[in-house]
Amino acid sequence: MALIAPSILSADFVNLESEIKKIATADWVHVDVMDGSFVPNITIGAPVVKAIKPVTTLFIDVHLMIVNPERHIPDFIKAGSELITFHMEAYRYAADGSGLLEHQLAVSNFDKRLTGQETQEQWEELGKAASDYDIEAIKTTIKLIKDSGVKVGLSINPATPVSSLESFIKDIDLVLLMSVNPGFGGQKFRPVVYEKITQVVELAKANGRSIGTDFNKGQLAIEIDGGVAPGPIAQELQAKGANVFVAGSAIYNAPDINEAISNLQANHCKA
Ligand code: DX5
Ligand code: ZN
Repeated sequence: MALIAPSILSADFVNLESEIKKIATADWVHVDVMDGSFVPNITIGAPVVKAIKPVTTLFIDVHLMIVNPERHIPDFIKAGSELITFHMEAYRYAADGSGLLEHQLAVSNFDKRLTGQETQEQWEELGKAASDYDIEAIKTTIKLIKDSGVKVGLSINPATPVSSLESFIKDIDLVLLMSVNPGFGGQKFRPVVYEKITQVVELAKANGRSIGTDFNKGQLAIEIDGGVAPGPIAQELQAKGANVFVAGSAIYNAPDINEAISNLQANHCKA
């Protein structure tokens, strides 16, 4: 059974404490941090993690969609994060020397070029566009998180190939595969993520990692984020080997939050 991580991006921020209590039957609480630079939108930061920590026993899963994550990670550690995931693309620079590629994509409204029906090949082509990762910087940021005793996740956008994770797969606790282009809740799920799960499973096996959510046993978790809903999507995600489902609108906009959580856990829709 997959772990369920409701995203508080879809919660009512005025009543955050009661909104978090409403998801007590879930497993993790997913905190979406956006900076208006890595993605077009701005959300919340470390003070919100600090505020929710005393009011929940759920595992605190922080998803950083920000540039220069290493500058802010110490604050998120102090605030009580239990898992911090950052994006590989935060360390991807345009080959022409004009700076951070993802930032340029975000500000140029990358998504408008896409139809949502792209094949895996087309996605990979987009992901490769004039890109270079700072591998050493990514390793340093992984170490920064691990050394503090916090679990570490690495995320990739739909356009980024799974092969980009190869240099880091032995050192991380979780891979977060985006099933939408990050930036906003409530977007349409992109099925391209299904085959990427299979690729992560293969990459993990080739590197001697077992897949699962027991971090104490050194397992590698596979989390999916964006447009996840109970029914066929959740079923197929689990069948492929994903084991943590993030869901914002499918939980917080549901008429019955507990039912939405249990439907996601059970991978079926009672409706
Ligand atoms: C997207 C965020 C997601 C989002 C999920 O940029 O990282 O966590 O809030 O929301 P839904 O489930 O509504 O797509
Ligand atoms: Zn997220």
